[in-house]
Amino acid sequence: MTVADGFSYRDHELHCGSVRVVDIIRETGTPLYLYNLDAVLARFEQHRAAFASFSHRTSYAVKANSTLPLLQALTNAGCGFDVNSRGELHRALKAGADARRITMTGVGKSRADIEDGLAAGISLFNVESASECRLISEIAEAQGMVADILLRLNPDVETETHPYISTGEAAHKFGLSPSDIRSLASQASWLPGLRIAGLAFHLGSQILSPAPYAQGLRVLLKVLDDITPMLDRAPDIIDIGGGFGVRYDAHHGELLPGQVAAVLANVLGPREETWTLITEPGRSLVANAGVLVASVEHVKPSEDRNFLILDAGMNDLLRPALYQASHSIIPLRESDADMQLYDIVGPVCESSDTFAVRYGLPSLERGDLVALLSAGAYGSSMSSNYNSRPLAAEAVVYEGRWHLARERQSLDDLQRGERLLPL
Ligand code: LLP
Repeated sequence: MTVADGFSYRDHELHCGSVRVVDIIRETGTPLYLYNLDAVLARFEQHRAAFASFSHRTSYAVKANSTLPLLQALTNAGCGFDVNSRGELHRALKAGADARRITMTGVGKSRADIEDGLAAGISLFNVESASECRLISEIAEAQGMVADILLRLNPDVETETHPYISTGEAAHKFGLSPSDIRSLASQASWLPGLRIAGLAFHLGSQILSPAPYAQGLRVLLKVLDDITPMLDRAPDIIDIGGGFGVRYDAHHGELLPGQVAAVLANVLGPREETWTLITEPGRSLVANAGVLVASVEHVKPSEDRNFLILDAGMNDLLRPALYQASHSIIPLRESDADMQLYDIVGPVCESSDTFAVRYGLPSLERGDLVALLSAGAYGSSMSSNYNSRPLAAEAVVYEGRWHLARERQSLDDLQRGERLLPL
């Protein structure tokens, strides 16, 4: 029985592809992030196929999951990357990415981010302010270069998602208003280190309807028409960001890339051929191909609750505490033991360190293993050392075999670079 992308029960044991998860755990211990890269690649192919009628580039949003073997597998499959910092750039290059397929976004790029991007020869900077335009132009000019940029439009489009991950409304810090973009384009000749190659937007994350993309694109095309006469070379790139929502549990739908491609084609009509289209999917490629495996540390019945205390906490998977996100939780071994209602929590000293409340699972004991599903996106990449807890180990299954992707941090790793007082 399939439970997630590339995960299924066979003979009552959870498998990642054809590998029994408990066999990996025996070597790595828990908590462990485990990804099925074959499933990630299948999602990438689905994404690419959906946009095949466009001149199209995929820039996978590295922030969703920056595990090196995952970036390597995507590189080999021909995927490009969208990086949000020089740290992410460094990881993409380490994984073998071709800099000419890398775009850099981010509302607060530093001089060092920009210098590293230019030195690596990335293809585009997605720019979010006049101040950033001046800085990129100045750095590029000093190096005798011209940087290709997309101006990030804030199209003021509402999306039905968690307020923390909605980004395309006027009140948000992201992007530039249509009038700011017109004003910047009219000054483009004063910015000799830049070429405006097109416009971008990113509306938010975990979006479940294609309609906001159509709305955003209509605003973007209008602004493009306004600025084209002001520029020496006609802009030819449109970047519609990421945001494609995934199915976290049976109660929710998902937004398939084909649905977005259809509304875009509809809005563009015959103009489709004029543009290169960039998409920046993150979550939709990786969320459901990753799990967080944890052990039951203690079972603690109290008066009206039954706590299942795991060895993974909010420092490993922050999404439930930060966004009240729900992740399905399953035992590694299917059993027909009596069902119990558990409050499933981590070991961190915060009440928000709670993964699920009154959640039905077959009766479990100390030492039993569970998997938190849909943890492939914004799981390990948002994890922290809170409570001085080492970062979890990570492993991947690729072409049917498993590989360690990251060792569990040691206690010494937790103090690397720190100094005592000279007493
Ligand atoms: N492009 C830009 C400019 C972005 O800011 C993002 C995500 C993406 C692409 C990828 O979006 P996706 O396809 O993954 O929805 N930590 C939150 C999600 C934050 C998203 C940040 N930006 C979560 O766990 O739900």
